[in-house]
Amino acid sequence: MQWIPPINPKRYHLEQLLAARGVTLDWLNSGDTDTFHPANVARYSITEAAKTIPFKFQDATADSPDIQAWLKELVTTARENQADRGAPVASVFQGRSLLLLGPTGTGKTHQAYGAIRELAITGVVACWITTTTADLYAALRPRHGIDSEAEFRRFRDARILLIDDLGADRKPTEFTEEVNFRLINHRYEHHLPTLITSNLLPKEISDRLGDRVTSRLIEMCQRVVFTGPDRRRGEAA
Ligand SMILES: Nc1ncnc2c1ncn2[C@@H]1O[C@H](COP(=O)(O)OP(=O)(O)OP(=O)(O)O)[C@@H](O)[C@H]1O
Ligand SMILES: [Mg+2]
Repeated sequence: MQWIPPINPKRYHLEQLLAARGVTLDWLNSGDTDTFHPANVARYSITEAAKTIPFKFQDATADSPDIQAWLKELVTTARENQADRGAPVASVFQGRSLLLLGPTGTGKTHQAYGAIRELAITGVVACWITTTTADLYAALRPRHGIDSEAEFRRFRDARILLIDDLGADRKPTEFTEEVNFRLINHRYEHHLPTLITSNLLPKEISDRLGDRVTSRLIEMCQRVVFTGPDRRRGEAA
């Protein structure tokens, strides 16, 4: 872990988030040159998250109580594992998953990227891989010069994975069904924390994703349902 110099909270849109979670700037910028200090881990995670979080969601927070409870559980487990193993840092690598459901524009992706930022400021290491399903299928399509199995393993083995828009493809193909099954089954069998968003209604999930994927999702995920108007349309909705 490299040492990250003190950071300017404005640059990373952190002021509100730190205040809401009771994290002080003094703590965040503490730790001298100890790279394993949780504050340095937090600074590292904040700078890494900023590289992958889309511009639109760079100031997102996850205020959903269910997501907050999930994050707290991941952090507690990571710290317990650190104590048990005498590891230098606490890292997220196992835990339950969440399925964020709701119509378009209700804030699912906002909450998901908010969760990445929320976890970053805790000082626990969380190596996220993030993708939409459309980008996932595109990345895995067999093509010249690409080892699509190696690419698949990158998603499959992610310490913590965000899959945005599961089931958004209206016409599943054999290829997308196989990717969904292999990915979800692996995450399920290894108890790897996965944050999934979907526009599907609960009753549509089985039709769109098939019984075997749905059965695993039901067991591995807590469902969090978002309601309300499309926030993109504002008052006009
Ligand atoms: N808690 C929030 N505070 C402020 N803005 C929000 C919040 N939640 C969502 N938004 C804004 O509302 C809009 C829709 O949010 P988002 O993209 O997360 O919706 P979604 O549920 O993922 O939609 P879709 O299903 O179409 O992908 C975006 O402009 C987002 O920035
Ligand atoms: Mg979305």
